[in-house]
Amino acid sequence: MTANPFHYGTPVEGVRFTGRERELEALLSRMRNGVNVVLLSPRRYGKTSLLLRAEAELRRGVRPAALVKANVLRSRDLATLVAQLTASAYHVPGGRWHRARQAVPEFLRRLRLRPTVTFDDQGKPAFAFEADLASPDADDVIADLYGLLDEEVGSRPAVLVLDEFQAITAHGAHLPDLLKALADAHPRVSLVVAGSRRHLMERLVTAEGAPLYGMAQKVALGPIPDEVMAAFLRERAAAGARPMGEDAARLTLALAGPVPNDIQHLAYEAFELAGRRIDGAAVLRGLDQAVAHEASAYAEIFAGRPPGQRRVLVALAAGLAQPVFSAAFARAVGLAGSNSVKRAVDALEAEEIVTLRDGRPAVADPFFAAWLRPAAGHEPVD
Ligand SMILES: Nc1ncnc2c1ncn2[C@@H]1O[C@H](COP(=O)(O)OP(=O)(O)O)[C@@H](O)[C@H]1O
Ligand SMILES: [Mg+2]
Repeated sequence: MTANPFHYGTPVEGVRFTGRERELEALLSRMRNGVNVVLLSPRRYGKTSLLLRAEAELRRGVRPAALVKANVLRSRDLATLVAQLTASAYHVPGGRWHRARQAVPEFLRRLRLRPTVTFDDQGKPAFAFEADLASPDADDVIADLYGLLDEEVGSRPAVLVLDEFQAITAHGAHLPDLLKALADAHPRVSLVVAGSRRHLMERLVTAEGAPLYGMAQKVALGPIPDEVMAAFLRERAAAGARPMGEDAARLTLALAGPVPNDIQHLAYEAFELAGRRIDGAAVLRGLDQAVAHEASAYAEIFAGRPPGQRRVLVALAAGLAQPVFSAAFARAVGLAGSNSVKRAVDALEAEEIVTLRDGRPAVADPFFAAWLRPAAGHEPVD
C-alpha cells in the first residue's frame, strides 16, 4: 500500500502545497516591511497553509523574523488566546530573553501580568493565565507582546499573525480597537489578520467604518488556477505510483469546484479507489464515496434549514436555468418572490452553506451539492 499522496482538512506544507507564488510574494514583502495585511478567502482555500509557507520562508536566512501567532478559533477564551500568544512570543528564535541564562524569568519580567508557568519533560515551558482574565489585564499582556516584537524591529522583521480573525470579537468586543491602537503605536511591526466569513471580516477590517479599516493591505486568495492544480494532481498521483491522465485531472477539477480542499479531497478518494491508474471512472467513484461518507452530516444540515431554504439549495445544486433572483426562480422554488429568495440565500451564505461564485450563489461544498441532486439515489425535496 502506497501512502495516499493527497491531503485535505488541515493545512498543507511541503510537497502537499502548490502554487500561490504571487500571493506568497505579496504577503512576504509586507511582513518584511512592517505593512499590515488582511488575508481573505472563504474557508479552505489555503490561508493557513499560505501563512505556514510564509512563516517557513521568514525563518530562513541570516535574520529569521520574529513572528508571534495565534489561532483565534482555537482559543476557548481570552485567557487561552493570550496564553497562545505568550507561548509563541517566548519561543521566537533569537528573542532577547533567550540570551539570558534564565530565559523564562527574563521573558516574564517583560510582562506586566505574570502567567503561571509549567515545564514539560523536556523542560519546555507552557504559560497559562487565570481563566477569568479580562480587560484591562489581558490588554496589557497583548500590548507587552506587541512591544516585545517592536524591540526586534530594526534587526529583523517582526510580525504578529492572528488566524481565524473573524472570530476575534468572541473574546472581547474591544479587541479590534485594541489591535488598531497597537498597530498604530508600532508601525514597524506587521500585523497579519487572516479570516473567512466575508461578512464578519468586512465588519472588522474591510468595510468603511470597520475598526481596522484602511490600515491593512488586502490579500485575497482565489482559486488556484486549473493548469497549476491539474499539474499538481498529476505530479502527486505519480508520486503515489498511481498516475493520473490529464483528462482525469480535469474531471477532478470540474467535479470538485474551485476550493483547493475539495479538489484534494476528491483526488484522495479517487486514489483510494483506483487500480494502477487514477482514471475518470475512479474519479466518479471517488465522488460517490465522498458523498457517502458525509451523507448523514448532509442530511442533518438539510433537515436543519427551513423549507424555503431547502428548496433553494436543491435548485442551486441542480443548476436551474433561471437567474437566481428572477421571478421565475422564485416561482420554481415556491417562494413569494425574489426578495424571499434573497433572504434565503443570505441566510445560507451567512452559514457558508452557499457562497458567491462569479457573483452567483452556489452550494459551497461540491459533495453536498452532489448529495442534493436526485441522482444521488435519495429524495431531499420535501
Ligand atoms: N497551496 C495549496 N496547494 C495545495 N492544496 C492546498 C493549498 N492550499 C490549500 N490546499 C488544500 O486546502 C486544504 C485547506 O487548507 P487551509 O490552509 O487549512 O485553508 P484555510 O486556512 O483557508 O481554511 C488543505 O488541506 C489542502 O487540501
Ligand atoms: Mg485556516
